[in-house]
Amino acid sequence: MSSPTKLVTFTLSATDGMARRGRIDTPRGDIQTPAFMPVGTAGTVKAMYPEQVRETGADILLGNTYHLMLRPGAERVASQGGLHTFMDWQRPILTDSGGFQVMSLAQLRKLTEKGVTFRSHIDGSSHELTPERSIEIQTLLDSDIIMQLDECLKLPAEKKEIERAMQLSLRWADRSKTAFNNQQNRALFGIVQGGDDPELRAKSAQGLKSIGFDGYAVGGLAVGEPQEVMFKVIEEITPELPDDRPRYLMGVGKPDDILGAIGRGIDMFDCVHPTRAGRHGHVYSRFGVINLKNARHRDDHRPIDELSPNPNCRRWSRAYLHHLVKTEEILGAMILSQMNLAYYQELVQGCRGAIEGSRFNDFAAETRAAWAAGDL
Ligand code: GUN
Repeated sequence: MSSPTKLVTFTLSATDGMARRGRIDTPRGDIQTPAFMPVGTAGTVKAMYPEQVRETGADILLGNTYHLMLRPGAERVASQGGLHTFMDWQRPILTDSGGFQVMSLAQLRKLTEKGVTFRSHIDGSSHELTPERSIEIQTLLDSDIIMQLDECLKLPAEKKEIERAMQLSLRWADRSKTAFNNQQNRALFGIVQGGDDPELRAKSAQGLKSIGFDGYAVGGLAVGEPQEVMFKVIEEITPELPDDRPRYLMGVGKPDDILGAIGRGIDMFDCVHPTRAGRHGHVYSRFGVINLKNARHRDDHRPIDELSPNPNCRRWSRAYLHHLVKTEEILGAMILSQMNLAYYQELVQGCRGAIEGSRFNDFAAETRAAWAAGDL
């Protein structure tokens, strides 16, 4: 991206309004964008075999520095041949830097200019994460796309506090870039912070651009603000980001959030929602979301969607899936995680085709209308 020998590159192939269609090439394979990255926090996409995840259409997974540094430890993963070999997923992996998870999971956190010290949520042991150590861990994991360490605040927050966290994240961005040391076989992404304040967001984007990254993430969203606030921040920030670099909206979201963010210029997403919702009996399809726990499904002979390209959506009755969910059978979590990830991939694939055909707005409107109509 930033030099001719860089092995991770982004190519934009079509635009439709603010929506973009592109491809990220990496030594471990390409990533078609807009892309949804299933979350494999602890070296597994919960309840799914890696080949099943791939069959849903996923080009790339997300892994977490925080979880893997605590268990089994980054050095141990490295001695096992890296995360791809350890979990037997040979395609690209993006790793988050750990800051966000420290803030949401760890105990006794202490944030300084140097980094963050905290106690593990697993056994209370003490750890330190600095921008440099985060890059080292992500390199030990053999990640293909590395994220800078940042500080993500919950909203609402005071402007002063948002500015402090944004400026700290910028200084950490600079240290991350130095520590990354221009590795050619992987990419380093900066993270825009600045809460819901347009001026602070623009400053953050400017600061990151002058450091120079292979891609730009938008962080600090889906942290308690209404969807319209998130959409406003996105549509104000994407024009500030370089056209020739991928843009990644971190931790988002539900299908409707993804559709809205693609229409505002975002290329990449990750979220635990499809797999977590699946484990709780919620299934996404072109009809919207169904709660299979509901008793209205117990005598329903119909499959989830008899016209779905996903065989699992045609295979079992809603009555059977309701039974699996009610009895908390492991197979229920497996099937519903697969269905949800497959639907998310169907959605981003639909967006790619629509952008290529210059009909993204119509596609988005038709998709939303089908969700609203449901199937009952
Ligand atoms: N995941 C969701 N939001 C964020 C964020 O702001 N920063 C990081 N590092 N990860 C995230």
